[in-house]
Formats: sequence, C-alpha cells, structure tokens
Amino acid sequence: MEYSNIHSLIYISLIAASLHLLHTILISPKLTIVSNNHQFVKVKRAAPLPLRFRSDGTFKILQVADMHYGNGKLTRCRDVTESEFEFCSDLNTTQFLQKMIRLENPDFVAFTGDNIFGSSATDAAESLFQVFDPVIKSGIPWAAVLGNHDQESTMTREELMSFLSLMDFSLSQTFPSPEDGSISSQVPKIDGFGNYNLGVWGAPGSNFANSSVLNLYFLDSGDRAVVDGVRTYGWIKESQLDWLRRVSVKVQEQKLETDESASSPSMAFFHIPIPEIRQGPFTSIVGQYQEYVACSIVNSRVLETLVSMGDVKAVFIGHDHKNDFCGNLRGVWFCYGGGFGYHGYGVAGWSRRARVILAELGKGEQSWGGVQRIKTWKRLDDEMVSKIDEQIIWERRGA
Ligand SMILES: *[C@@H]1O[C@H](CO)[C@@H](O)[C@H](O)[C@H]1NC(C)=O
Ligand SMILES: *[C@@H]1O[C@H](CO)[C@@H](O)[C@H](O)[C@H]1NC(C)=O
Repeated sequence: MEYSNIHSLIYISLIAASLHLLHTILISPKLTIVSNNHQFVKVKRAAPLPLRFRSDGTFKILQVADMHYGNGKLTRCRDVTESEFEFCSDLNTTQFLQKMIRLENPDFVAFTGDNIFGSSATDAAESLFQVFDPVIKSGIPWAAVLGNHDQESTMTREELMSFLSLMDFSLSQTFPSPEDGSISSQVPKIDGFGNYNLGVWGAPGSNFANSSVLNLYFLDSGDRAVVDGVRTYGWIKESQLDWLRRVSVKVQEQKLETDESASSPSMAFFHIPIPEIRQGPFTSIVGQYQEYVACSIVNSRVLETLVSMGDVKAVFIGHDHKNDFCGNLRGVWFCYGGGFGYHGYGVAGWSRRARVILAELGKGEQSWGGVQRIKTWKRLDDEMVSKIDEQIIWERRGA
C-alpha cells in the first residue's frame, strides 16, 4: 500500500516535471504566455505605447498584403518564372519582409490579411511564428487583420486573433478596447474578430504630444458566406460600422477640443475590397488594375459610412494580388497593397510588392502641429527594390 502510494507520487511528479519541461522548451520561448487559473496572462514583449510621430514630424507605415505563408522552406512559390521556380519558397517571402523593414525602417507594420494560407499550413501556430518572425526580430510595433484564408488551417478566426494579439510587439486586438466600445461594456457584440482602433500621437514636445493626431482603424472583412444560395465573400457588418461611427465621433470630438487638428485624418485597414471598387468609376488610378475585383455580393454600405464619417481619407486593402492601384471614390482613396507573398497567386515576371504610407506633420508656430500630408508609394521585390507610383493621397487644405 505504502509502497504503491510513493510509487504513484513519484510517477505523478515525473509527469508534472516533464510537462513543465515540455512547456518551457516548446512553448514559452516563442509565445511567452503563462497560464493562470485558466486565464491567459500576457507576458509578451510589449511595444511601447502609444504609437507616436518621430521628432522629425513623420510616421511611416509599411503595408504588407497577402503573404500567403505555408510551411516555410517546404512551400513552393506560385506564379514565378520557370527559372525562378527551383529555388523559390516561403523563405523568399521572409527575405522580402526583412528587406522592406531594413530599407524603409517603418514606425509600424500593418498586415492586411491572408497572412498565412491555411490550406498549405500544417500547423497555424508554427506558420504564424515563421511569417511574423522578421517583424518581431525588428522590434517594430505591428498589427494584423485576417483575410479569408487564415482560418483554413488549425485555428479558428477568434483563436488566430487572440494568438496574433499575444505575439511580441503586436498591437493587434481581437475586440475593440473598452474606451473604443468593447463588447464588455453596454455595447452590443460586434461581428468578427480583429476590429480595433489605434491612435498615433503627435511629435514629442509638440502641442499634440499627448493626443492622437492620426487614427488607424482595423476591420475584419470576414471570409466566405452563402447568401441566397450563392457562395460569396464576407463583408463588413452593420455592427462593425456602428462601432466605427461611434469611435469616429469620439475621435473627432477630442480633436475639436484642440481645434487646430479638427480635421485630423484617419486611415482604415481591412482585407476584402468593397463592391464600389468593382463598380468604379475612378476618374484616375495610380498603379495597375489587372484583375476583376473579388468582393462580396452584399453591399453593406461601407463607402456610405466612411463618406458620412468624414475622417477616413484612405483605406488599405489586399485580396486581389494582381491589383496594386490607388483609386478615389467620393473623396476616399482605396489602395491595394499588391501581392507580397510568393506562395500567393500572382503574375510570373511581375514582381511581388509592398506599400509604404508616410504621414507628415505640419510645422506649427514653434513646434510640430497636426498631420499636414499623407503620401504613399510601393516597393518591388526586384534587384533594386524599386520605388514606384509615389503620390500624395491627402493634404490639409488652407493652412
Ligand atoms: C529566392 O531566394 C533565393 C535564395 O536567396 C534566391 O536565390 C532566389 O533568386 C529568390 N527567388 C526569387 C523569385 O526572388
Ligand atoms: C504631455 O504630458 C507630459 C507629461 O505628463 C507633460 O510634461 C507635457 O507638458 C504634456 N504636453 C502637452 C502639450 O500637453
């Protein structure tokens, strides 16, 4: 009796020790989360908050659309030339991200969905660790939304967003923060995972050092849906637009208090284009329009909402890898990132690419003021990492 008790005690201790060791070796170094009464407590390396402009009056965002990551070096490239195919894998996507971060040295990186290509990713967590490794190593704050392919592996959309929000230097959120109307307050539940708002504060030492002068909205545009028996893509739901309107009012009220920045701009990031982009017409576009816009058959009046809100000057999307243009619809710019990842479809011989967004502050009487101008351009993954299609997408009138 006694002997068997001691025996089982030793046995249980051994199991506990092995589990602890396994946890330490396999999980902790990567995600650094600890379990505490079934609640996950973050001990991740946090990005310094808030985001803010540099003392040279600029804030630069790198937009990365559609990395379509699978299993790393085992996952082959799609739509590359015959001579490129043999030595091409997901690692080329990794190299391109490293190159972009080194060259542009952005203040923030926004990933607009299809970060992983679920059906090629054996283990979603492993693919996420691999695909975000370059941005995490850089220590630059980043955030992501989901596309329509991310959840096709071993994690649901909610699990993916929670995971993304726990990764080092990530500012991704599964739900909006309480001050922006989270689901925990009286606000009704918002559809989707990955709806949140990030403010970028003014330059240090300026009148706007302690307030947001630029707002970044992130929205979950869903994956797929069946509407009246027709298979189609997801769309941004009324509950999300409702949340967006409320945050926008709040943001603009705060700005009225500090009058000079009354018309401070916002930008939005999501994955799937809205139907108006397909319908056009654009007076002029900058960049390539070489693929039919793959949007939902449901028009949930996103454009209508953005126009009536007034603060959103530009929207950055992905999804259609062969489109990389910016076009203006009723005063709002819609810009594609252009396909980034080598496992995503594309056009052989047409370089994978990324978009850069630069916001510049105006000079006040003594120090930096609010945002004066927003520019964008793209970089190609060619030998020169060529910079193309630079344009101004917003400029403060008057002043
Ligand atoms: C992919 O990376 C390999 C190794 O660095 C390189 O030799 C090859 O040219 C790259 N392919 C493309 C299409 O960029
Ligand atoms: C911002 O906050 C800091 C620290 O509280 C303070 O010293 C500074 O005066 C504030 N600046 C403005 C413009 O309100």
